Amino acid sequence: MTETVTLQVDGKTYQLPLVQGTEGERAIDISRLRAETGLITLDPGYGNTGSCESAITYIDGEQGILRYRGIPIEQFENNPNFVEVAWLLIFGKLPSPAQYDRFSEALTNKANIDESMTHNFQGFPRSAPPMAILSAMINALSCFHPEFRKVDDLDQLEAVAARLISKIRTIAAFAYRRSRGKPIMYPDPKLRYVANFLHMMFSQPYEEYICDEVTQDAINLLLILHADHEQNCSTSTVRMVGSSQANLFTSCASGVSALWGPLHGGANVQVLDMLNRIHKGHMSPEEYVRRAKEKDSSERLMGFGHRVYKNFDPRATVLQRIAERLFEKMNKKDPLLDIARKLEEITLNDSYFLERKLYPNVDFYSGIILRAIGIPTNMFTVIFAIGRLPGWIAHWAEQNGTPNARIARPRQIYTGHPKTDYVSLLKS
Ligand code: CMC
Repeated sequence: MTETVTLQVDGKTYQLPLVQGTEGERAIDISRLRAETGLITLDPGYGNTGSCESAITYIDGEQGILRYRGIPIEQFENNPNFVEVAWLLIFGKLPSPAQYDRFSEALTNKANIDESMTHNFQGFPRSAPPMAILSAMINALSCFHPEFRKVDDLDQLEAVAARLISKIRTIAAFAYRRSRGKPIMYPDPKLRYVANFLHMMFSQPYEEYICDEVTQDAINLLLILHADHEQNCSTSTVRMVGSSQANLFTSCASGVSALWGPLHGGANVQVLDMLNRIHKGHMSPEEYVRRAKEKDSSERLMGFGHRVYKNFDPRATVLQRIAERLFEKMNKKDPLLDIARKLEEITLNDSYFLERKLYPNVDFYSGIILRAIGIPTNMFTVIFAIGRLPGWIAHWAEQNGTPNARIARPRQIYTGHPKTDYVSLLKS
């Protein structure tokens, strides 16, 4: 028998069904609430609202757990392969060798974008943020691939996913070249996913960029750790747009726009900016933390806190290990890493952060790692987008494949004027 909760309003009693997920988390199903009671719920920021049922990613924010299709993210650490994880997220299982080879081959073959699209990059000012170009160009892909404006089966999903996951890195690299006024470097079919991206970013017509294994592993892992995070702002945006049956390219372009914001994917840029300001002596780590705690301060300790994690963000824990390993292998010291460690130490002994359960999040270490690899700051959030793309595709496809899925359309509580008659203030 279905478990229910009782709601009493205006002397009437209603039974609302309880829904349970596979890990035991419970929700009150209010889908009949308005029809039966005339009431809606109010939850600004959606902190208590489940917008869908999903089988892709499980998070336990209290315990610091993150699993993709059941697999804890820490298990990808020793053999990081972003392409394999992308398949896992989208299709629900790890790929067989044949599936993996086929998908990798498609990623290689579909890396180029239509030549007429490459001219579009010249239409942007040199100063254009690469995230703006990325969103515009991913949307533009729907003009060049009308055959994928509808996806009806798994073969089509595989074909469109391969194109998008391959082309996003080409677009990202071309956007970067544009911002530097450098000639475009076309993809090299001999190179694997990450190495090919770095080649398009950093090779010169007269000099090939060689990417070592340590760097490739670090970026593969960084992309994997960003690959999905259930109903975050950008993924919810992708689902919201997709719920109108908008195509995959357009839906993912909206995801890029949502990710751009400083409270979401843009935070890793802000983290680096904060560390740089501390490093340049504008203030000490202690002073920065003091300001971040002030009630009316415009500063926040960037890279700390999370809507869902009320414990260590497990991605931050892995990233911290990668940062340490990378610096050791590169035989490099970075004063910003020392400042990051100091900030972490201060906050772990500060009641403000402990009481509010504010711990380092994924963005706290990702900027330091990208900087060490030589990725320019204006590309940090773009790399987050490349990583998050398989998650967006998986969620779009999950929703696209849900029979009788409804368009997402929240309601509101109106707080404006009561009925007011039209009396024009303009002279007749
Ligand atoms: N520094 C100082 N105080 C903070 C911080 C911070 N980074 N984050 C939250 N607080 C305080 C906040 O002022 C509030 O205090 P009080 O209860 O006294 O009013 C309390 O903690 C709760 O904060 P909130 O704003 O209600 O929390 P939220 O769940 O709405 O926001 C957040 C989550 C991630 C936007 C926020 O913690 C934040 O702005 N962090 C810094 C930006 C950042 O690192 N963003 C990346 C998020 S992880 C990547 C991703 O998944 O997109």
